This record gives sequence, C-alpha cells and structure tokens, in this order.
Amino acid sequence: MSKSIHQKARTSPYPRTKDIIRTKVADDNVPWKVEYDYKPVKYTSESVLKGPVWADPDIKPGDKHNIQFNTVDNNVNRTSFICKYEVVNSLPRNPMGRTGLTGRGSLGRWGPNHAADPIVTRWKNKDKKILQFVAVQRKDNGEWAIPGGMVDAGEVVSQTLRREFGEEALNTLEADSSEKKHIEQSLDRLFHSGTEIFKGYVDDPRNTDNAWMETVAMNFHDELGDSAGLFELNAGDDAMSVQWMDITNKSKLYASHEHFIQSVAQLHKAEW
Ligand code: BGC
Repeated sequence: MSKSIHQKARTSPYPRTKDIIRTKVADDNVPWKVEYDYKPVKYTSESVLKGPVWADPDIKPGDKHNIQFNTVDNNVNRTSFICKYEVVNSLPRNPMGRTGLTGRGSLGRWGPNHAADPIVTRWKNKDKKILQFVAVQRKDNGEWAIPGGMVDAGEVVSQTLRREFGEEALNTLEADSSEKKHIEQSLDRLFHSGTEIFKGYVDDPRNTDNAWMETVAMNFHDELGDSAGLFELNAGDDAMSVQWMDITNKSKLYASHEHFIQSVAQLHKAEW
C-alpha cells in the first residue's frame, strides 16, 4: 500500500516555497505502525498563521483547544470520508501515513480540508467518441485542472460545486445582474443531476501529517450539447484561462484530476 500512496504528498519543495524541504520518508516508513526515529520538519504558511476566516487557530502539540475533530463542528465538516482519524497529542494524524512535514503547510484546517470538483462534460462531435470537459488554468501553478475549490464553512458540497464552476469558468463574480440571472438558469438545469465520480482522500502536494485534502468529484454531462455545451466560458477568480478540453490519456492535469476524467470517460464509454 505504501508504494502507491503519498507520492505527491512527499514531494519537495513544499508548494509555493523554495526552501521548505520535507524530511525524507522511505516508502516502507509511510504507515504510522512502522516505528522509527522520525523527525519531520514543521511548517505552516504565514497566510494561514495570520488567521483568515478559512483557517483554524494555530495549535501546538499538547495544547488545549475547542476544535471537535471527527464531527461537523460549528459548520465545518471535520469528518473524513475514509475513517475516524486519530488525534495524537491534540493534533489530528493523517490517516494515510507520514508525509515528512508537520503543521498545516498552506492548508487552513487541521485534519481534513474538504474540496469539491465539478466535471462538466459534452461530446466533441456528433459521433460521440471524444468527450470534452471544462478545464481551467490555475493561477497558483499554471496547471490545467477541473474548476474545483474548497467547501466553505456552512456550505454543502452541491453548493460548492455550483459556486466554484460559476466563479472560475463563467466569472459570475464580475457578471452584471441580467447576465447573472441567465447564467443561474443554465446552472440550475445543468447541476440538477450529477453522477458521483470520486469521494475520498487525495494525494495532494499540500498534505501534511496533520492536514490533508479530501474531495468529492461529480460529473454533470450535457448529452445533447444544448445546455452546458453552449456556455460562454469566461475565466474568473482563481482561474487565468478556461476552455473545453478533450479528454484523452495525454491530458496532464493538476492533483488527481487525471484519474477523475479517466473515470468520466469510462462512465460515458468515450475514447480514452
Ligand atoms: C482543488 C481541487 C482538488 C483538491 C485536492 C483543491 O484545492 O480545488 O480541485 O481536487 O484540492 O487536490
């Protein structure tokens, strides 16, 4: 098991830093049950330590705190999709094992950080062989990705999927009120029914021993090409460009997104 997990979550330098290098963890030493003299480096980014709304307070090992792990705590979902995780010395422990780094890195929450990924698809041509999905180019690292994002406090996943798609692929944040109304109507139709593609832990380069990413990826498909297929795409918020991208096995995408679009291709029996 340890060979396939924590590939991205053991890479250095830590995203958006030049000099934060994770302590090396050999494949066999990833599981916590393997005991050895493990001395991970510690890192939590300045922007998280400043305490924005999306971040928890800082906690030192052994500190008393009010966070209720493994529950929905004050509108924040602190449960994991995969298990009831352990809390050791006041801090949650990554259920998939070691990453070579303690603290939260650039993640706001201790424990699971929940995201949602809307995969909006249409057929490229009438022959229905190749699928296309709405891809955005992320501002943070220039990689192409599904227009996903973090679940805000008090939000349910279905709201996050719709909000993130609107903000990043249709630029709803900057649309005027009549455009907004039109976009909302199309989104109502499209997001009315979706198929779950993935739900669980993600091997993300930001993961740490105490904070990690989990996501729900849902597919919203426009079979006839007459609803989402006609959207006027317009990059906004965290995205610098947006396009309908062919789904092929050559796509190089952010985080686990290649796996997700492969599952979507299989679901619709499209070429891959
Ligand atoms: C991204 C999602 C991604 C998740 C896990 C989030 O920040 O917005 O698209 O699936 O991280 O990697």
